[in-house]
Amino acid sequence: MRYLVTSALPYANGPVHFGHIAGAYLPADIFVRYKRLRREEILFICGTDEHGTPITFSAQAEGIAPLAYADRYHEVIKGQFERLAIEFDNFSRTTLPLHHELTQQLFLALLKNGYIFEKIGPALFCPSCKKGLADRFVVGTCYVCGFDRARGDECQKCGTALDALRLADPRCKTCGTPAQKRDTPNWFVDLPKLRPKIDPYLTEAFTRWKESVKGEVNKYWTDLRPWVITRDLDWGVRVPLETEDARGKVFYVWFDAPIGYISSTIEWAEKRGKKDSWRDWWLDRKNTRLIHFIGKDNIVFHTLRWPAVLLGQDEPYLVPHDVPANEFYNLEGAKWSKGEGWYIDFFEFLEKYPADALRWTIARGAPETKDSEFTWKDFQAKVNAELLGNFGNFASRVLKFVKEKLGGNVPQARAPLVEHEAIALAKAQKAHDEIGRELDRYGVRAACERLLEIGAFGNKLLEQREPWKTLKTEPDRCATTLNVAVKILEVLSLSLFPFCPRTAEKLWKQLGLDGKVTDRAWSEPAPDPAGRALGEIEHVFKKVEDEEVAREVAALRARAAERAQKETRVDEPKKPDATSPASPATPGAAKPAAPAPPAKPADGPKGDIAFEDFAKLDIKIAKVLTCAPVAGADKLYQLEIEIEGGAKRTVVSGIRPWYQETDLVGREVVYLANLAPKKIRGAMSQGMILAARTPDGGAILLKPEKTAFPGSKVS
Ligand code: MF3
Ligand code: ZN
Repeated sequence: MRYLVTSALPYANGPVHFGHIAGAYLPADIFVRYKRLRREEILFICGTDEHGTPITFSAQAEGIAPLAYADRYHEVIKGQFERLAIEFDNFSRTTLPLHHELTQQLFLALLKNGYIFEKIGPALFCPSCKKGLADRFVVGTCYVCGFDRARGDECQKCGTALDALRLADPRCKTCGTPAQKRDTPNWFVDLPKLRPKIDPYLTEAFTRWKESVKGEVNKYWTDLRPWVITRDLDWGVRVPLETEDARGKVFYVWFDAPIGYISSTIEWAEKRGKKDSWRDWWLDRKNTRLIHFIGKDNIVFHTLRWPAVLLGQDEPYLVPHDVPANEFYNLEGAKWSKGEGWYIDFFEFLEKYPADALRWTIARGAPETKDSEFTWKDFQAKVNAELLGNFGNFASRVLKFVKEKLGGNVPQARAPLVEHEAIALAKAQKAHDEIGRELDRYGVRAACERLLEIGAFGNKLLEQREPWKTLKTEPDRCATTLNVAVKILEVLSLSLFPFCPRTAEKLWKQLGLDGKVTDRAWSEPAPDPAGRALGEIEHVFKKVEDEEVAREVAALRARAAERAQKETRVDEPKKPDATSPASPATPGAAKPAAPAPPAKPADGPKGDIAFEDFAKLDIKIAKVLTCAPVAGADKLYQLEIEIEGGAKRTVVSGIRPWYQETDLVGREVVYLANLAPKKIRGAMSQGMILAARTPDGGAILLKPEKTAFPGSKVS
């Protein structure tokens, strides 16, 4: 049987973090390494997913072209995988012309076969930017959880995949203008029409798939709806039709991305000079199994929509055989978030620690059936107790003993094996076989446990047989124990290879074995090591100290706290007026005495200020991007405003009684930028929005008489 194994194509929108690695990359690499040792024919495919709105935003923020942005992260991510010894046969990109062509070709085949229809329907549009608001170009209030800054395609608070048309209060992410609905043509994959192909496929696949995957599929399977696959954007694969309707349309990133698995295979075939050999993989349903390693947020795309695209083709493309999706892998109790400072710098981490220490820690905590997380404490425990305490300890005891006490060559088993020895060897061999069985069913965690057992059997054997004692009294017994111990260490090294390949290679050399670990097949009987000269002893792992852990955790928390402060820097609003009837009184609490009104400066020369004093005020035009009520304060809004150069500030302002949120978003305001930041009702306010007071205590916002750009100085 041949295996076409893929890992989800990472967005070229930033480096991957440990969470991605735990979900889609490391489990796949472990599986592939193991299958290769089993001498199965494998192709391991990946590449960067370079379309979609997030990349256009990131590029825009830096003022560069989306392709230049994707170029950078394609290289960064590729480098990350190299550092981690995650080795694909090909690592491609979805901006390749061959990928665009293939996507268009698969679309046209679906269209010809009647599985695609065009329909005119409402879509969101920004009247001020004059463009369609696809996916993340729109923000609004989530109709599931009420979060008021949900993205058009997904609520980052509750995780729901959203229909932008159902958002409350939708507005343009770029300029804040309330979005309008406009009729526009779009193309849909007719999933209901594909049901006669989808149903038998899923029914059969359900005999294999894990519960969490089936549960996710079931959410959509019973109520299959047409899937809209086009967008009004200028970044993506163009819809290959010459009609007026198709102008300015590209495919939704989730339509083209999985096709990247095929185009990456085509690129691989071309690089090898056998252009058509990709067909041997993708068009041989009988002999090839397609396995997609992904994170759980990708399930519906890989199990329903993507198979539908494949099943609607004329050629017999493979469909996913297995989809070993993983749950999330968090960091110290929270989601990874670069923006919030909740992350570990990948390259810095690997300056300090070997890649295999990370691979082992992640493999041990692989989020197979429930979410799990990276914690520094756990990392320390895995390195110290397992890599060093178990494997490292066993390896160095055996290797040192042979080198120092027995002249450096593996001794012969000169006495018959005693029970302990025979049992330890048999158990190690059995654990090795079980690791294989676990990995056959993607059980990385369980496989790690069996590996630890091998090390434990080895360590126990040394304690039972005490070769340091028998060395003088019964040299034959001692030699036999060490011969067996070396054999166990060899089993351990081979078993360890899929998980910690570099460490396994080092052990291989230290064991005096020629060539590479991969020269030995998983189930090949090992030759007797007797007489073999051992290699140089080398220590791979270093103890992780308590101080390091404390320092790293503190640094992580400090960075997140600092970010949180910056993010919420806002301007000080008016003090809530304690005498106003609108101000809420705490039930049962004595009403505080009204403060004396501040003394007004007298009119006349006494109140004059020098021009220099006025010049100290940094007053500017700003544009309101978002507006949200401050919980528990009925006069306050928290506003996000744009100042010069697209920079953003947060301001808390007491204008809620007089303005609706929708009155504010998108409008220009006059803003005092250099007022000392102040915390108001838990939020940092930086600066102040200026308003004219009305006799009844109301506020009228100032507005430039003509359009003035954010950042324009008022003087
Ligand atoms: N880029 C997507 C993500 O990171 C995964 C795409 S997988 C593919 O969530 F199959 F579509 F390529
Ligand atoms: Zn706009």
